[in-house]
Amino acid sequence: VDSFDEECDYLFKAVLTGDSAVGKSNLLLRFSRDEFQLDSKPTIGVEFAYRNVRVGDKLIKAQIWDTAGQERFRAITTSYYRGALGALLVYDITRRATFDSVKKWLHELREFGNPEIVIVLVGNKVDLGSSREVDLEDGKGFAEREGLCFMETSALENLNVEDAFLQMIAKIH
Ligand code: GTP
Ligand code: MG
Repeated sequence: VDSFDEECDYLFKAVLTGDSAVGKSNLLLRFSRDEFQLDSKPTIGVEFAYRNVRVGDKLIKAQIWDTAGQERFRAITTSYYRGALGALLVYDITRRATFDSVKKWLHELREFGNPEIVIVLVGNKVDLGSSREVDLEDGKGFAEREGLCFMETSALENLNVEDAFLQMIAKIH
């Protein structure tokens, strides 16, 4: 047990959700260990990682649950929404279908999660801008209408990844 754990002011749980292969596991890998995997395997069920962050003068331990996007894990993954105070709802800007699914994921978060949950909508893979199928304005507009925060990211290039997680964490505390 390191001393940070004892001094920690808050422990909170957040979830990563969205279609398969949008980059959820890589966003968490980048945030928790500053790593990236080009050939990552689909997540089976649920995995988690911790990261300690400082917001102002508070020490916060974020426990982040990375759920599988594949439909066959749906019953397991939605059971992890309970108790989550924050969520990153991720789509892939190069695949329109993953953005169309955002409505469905949002519905599930609201049905199975905490009613006050802070949600950040994340359009990932902006490094692949030449293959873009979802305009920045589409993501932003949807987020505004639904009262979500919004960020476009690249786990590969480490663009806005820290900001997306910190925006969620700061809004909770
Ligand atoms: P599931 O676990 O099945 O739900 O998928 P996931 O959302 O966790 O996707 P994952 O992180 O495993 O990434 C899927 C693929 O996209 C992998 O080949 C990654 O290397 C790639 N990928 C993830 N993020 C980025 C990114 O920002 N840019 C690019 N170019 N590729 C990315
Ligand atoms: Mg995954």
